[in-house]
Formats: sequence, structure tokens, C-alpha cells
Amino acid sequence: LSSTKKLHNGITIPRLGLGVYKVPEEQVYDTVSSALDLGYRHIDTASFYGNEEGVGKAVHNSGIPREEIFVTSKVWNDDQGYENTLKAFDRSMDKLGFEYLDLFLIHWPVPDVFPETWKALEKVYEKRQTRAIGVSNFLDHHLGELAKTANETPVVDQIELHPKLTQKSTVDYCREHHIAVESWSPLGRAKYLDDSALVKMAGKYDKSVAQLIIRWHLENNLIVIPKSTNASRQKENAAVFDFEISPEDKKYMDQMNENLRIGSHPDNTKGL
Ligand code: A2P
Repeated sequence: LSSTKKLHNGITIPRLGLGVYKVPEEQVYDTVSSALDLGYRHIDTASFYGNEEGVGKAVHNSGIPREEIFVTSKVWNDDQGYENTLKAFDRSMDKLGFEYLDLFLIHWPVPDVFPETWKALEKVYEKRQTRAIGVSNFLDHHLGELAKTANETPVVDQIELHPKLTQKSTVDYCREHHIAVESWSPLGRAKYLDDSALVKMAGKYDKSVAQLIIRWHLENNLIVIPKSTNASRQKENAAVFDFEISPEDKKYMDQMNENLRIGSHPDNTKGL
């Protein structure tokens, strides 16, 4: 299994990245620095996380060439609409201190306004300020609605996805339209890492449940961005390229879906 994936516009993304949701600004520098030291080359942030400055500094100070690190950010709900999104993009870039971004996403499908927001993403992409544009938390029906007015197809849709929330209809839509799927909260926010069947299964491979689940995402052709602020768990989460899940175990995991959602429902963005 290759550690990178080609997106439909031709650029390459590392299949495993570090999520920094809710990592406070004062902690994010150390969090991102340790991940980069461990070999992570993909960091997923958002203006909403309030930590873009620390992310940018860690990338700068790592000594790793900027072009070797893939960074994603997102436009927040209150900043949607064409003009506001252009301004929000500039603010994110100022905070990150970058000359370009790798991937810029619409964070949530705010009703009525996301098609206009998308026009702004197309603009920054056309101006080559970002290497790719995509969406987050779009269900298949949002993607269908976006397609009616969009000139560009999103390269990714980043959605909550883990063994208990497999999002089949959205994933099927994405596959059909060559949109890569990224899993957020891939570990189900660590809520069922003690599941006895998974504990037993992971033991067979001499791996942790977290590693088993991350590997399951990779084998399902998903881009995966587990969050950890702890260097040893970051290391653990990245050690997933040296084993394979057996077909029976894979099948078991593929059938664990319970539509168990940890985050907000995408049709309820007003409640966020
Ligand atoms: P921590 O940051 O202390 O490591 P998700 O990415 O699904 O939202 O999960 C994130 C949560 O899972 C965080 O609370 C994180 O805590 C925890 N976590 C991340 N990696 C592991 C791991 N390998 N084992 C146990 N918990 C983990």
C-alpha cells in the first residue's frame, strides 16, 4: 500500500496525516513539531481550530522544505459567501505564513451559501494560491447540489468516518465522481478502542486497536487524519504500513457500522 495518493487534479497527498482539531494554539507548535520529526508530512488544520499560527511556525521551523509538507485549512461557517471567503483565505494564509496552501476546504455545507463559497475557492485555486480545493462534511446530496453550479469538482470530501460510521452513500458518490474521501475522527474519538472483538483482533497482528482501525481506513482507500497531541501515540498511529488485515477481519470491520455519529450532522450546521 503506497503512503501517498494522487488526487483527481494530479497532485499527491500523503494518505496519513495529523489532525489538530481543538489543539490549543499554545500546544499546537509542539504537537506538529513532534509529528514532523516522526515523519508525518500532512497536517490538517482549519481557521475554526484557532491554531493556524502555531501550525505555520512548526512547519517553518522544522527545516523540512515547504513543498514536502501537505497542509490543509478550511473556511469557517461564519465566513462563507464569495467575498467573505476570499478574505478568510487571506487571513488563514497570514496566520500560516505560507506563500501557498496545499488544500483549502469548505468546512461545513452551510445551506444556501456554499455554492457561492465554492466560487471563491475556485478563484483562489485559479490564482494558484492553493494547490487544490475540496469540501468537508458534505453528504452526497450536498455534493449533488454543488455539482449543479461548480466548474471544478472537489478533490476531496472530508467527513466523519470510522468503523461505526461508514457513510456508504456519500463514499459511493465520491468514488463515482473521483472525489477522494478523508476520514475525520478516524478513531471514533477513541470512544471504542476497548471493543473486545477489536482488542482480540488487534492482538493477532501485535498491533493496537488504534493501529488496526487506521490500517482499516487505508485499506478502504481512505485518507486518514488521526489526532494525537502525544508523541508516542503519534508514533504508534503512523506504524501502520507493515501489516495487512486478513480478508475475514476486514469483512468483520466493514460490517461494524451503526451510524454512530460523534460530531454534528451535516444537515444541522446551523446548530454548530
Ligand atoms: P491524545 O491526543 O491524548 O493522544 P480522533 O482522531 O478519532 O478524533 O481521536 C482523537 C482522540 O483519540 C484524542 O483524544 C487522542 O488523544 C486519542 N488517541 C489518538 N491516538 C490514540 C491511540 N493510538 N491510542 C489511544 N488514544 C488515541
